[in-house]
Amino acid sequence: MKTQQTELQYLPLDLKQELLPQHVAVIMDGNGRWAKSRGLPRMMGHKAGVNALKDLLHCCKDWGIKALTAYAFSTENWQRPEEEVEFLMNLFQRVLRQELREMVEENVQIQFVGNLSALPQALQAEISHSMDQTKDNRSIRFTIATNYGGRQEILQACRAIAQKVKEDLLQPEDISEEVFEAHLYTAGIADPDLLIRTSGEMRLSNFLLWQMAYSEIYISDTLWPDFNRHEFHRALSAYQQRERRFGKV
Ligand code: FPP
Repeated sequence: MKTQQTELQYLPLDLKQELLPQHVAVIMDGNGRWAKSRGLPRMMGHKAGVNALKDLLHCCKDWGIKALTAYAFSTENWQRPEEEVEFLMNLFQRVLRQELREMVEENVQIQFVGNLSALPQALQAEISHSMDQTKDNRSIRFTIATNYGGRQEILQACRAIAQKVKEDLLQPEDISEEVFEAHLYTAGIADPDLLIRTSGEMRLSNFLLWQMAYSEIYISDTLWPDFNRHEFHRALSAYQQRERRFGKV
């Protein structure tokens, strides 16, 4: 990969800085299959998936992408075997604790979106701590969707807005897209320009349903733990070929 060393580190030569997505969202699919293909338990796939996510975060930061959002655990994922759910909760907590110092040093802002109050208490505490410690960081905004569901997010926004209308704090005719967005978990975070999903699956799986109305979608056949800089480069090249019209001609 030939690279250019401008103020951005090692941006591949064929990528145009001005056409980079500002915000990349990723559905990290294929951890289980990756592990199975190696004769390993599924959990090892999730462990390997953490490294792929760390690499992607560094790559986004190096190449000047300002926001990365990763789908770590959906509201439907509770239906997985208890052992796997427990492993994932412990993994999130451990990784957060281990990586926080580096995130602080690298000026990464960590945010979590989802129904966080239903997560184990110890994980909630680690999440609050990491968000608080990195709240003023500005190199990249790293959002982790945990116990997240797009429909649930839209419903809770509707409830919050309805409550305000009931209390006469808001009039129905004042409910604009901006007002609605301000009640989503992602309030203040720009919509993703590019969604990447790995392992060849072509579904949104209840991820950022409102926010991805105009996102470009890139499907990679690679299983998530194998998704690396080269694969990301390929996704960005494809993205830069797209003509984004936002419904216009
Ligand atoms: C989907 O693959 C993956 C998940 C449900 C978990 C993703 C979580 C990580 C990669 C860890 C991230 C860590 C932090 C700290 C944010 P799958 O299990 O559905 O794979 P399969 O479709 O092959 O079974």
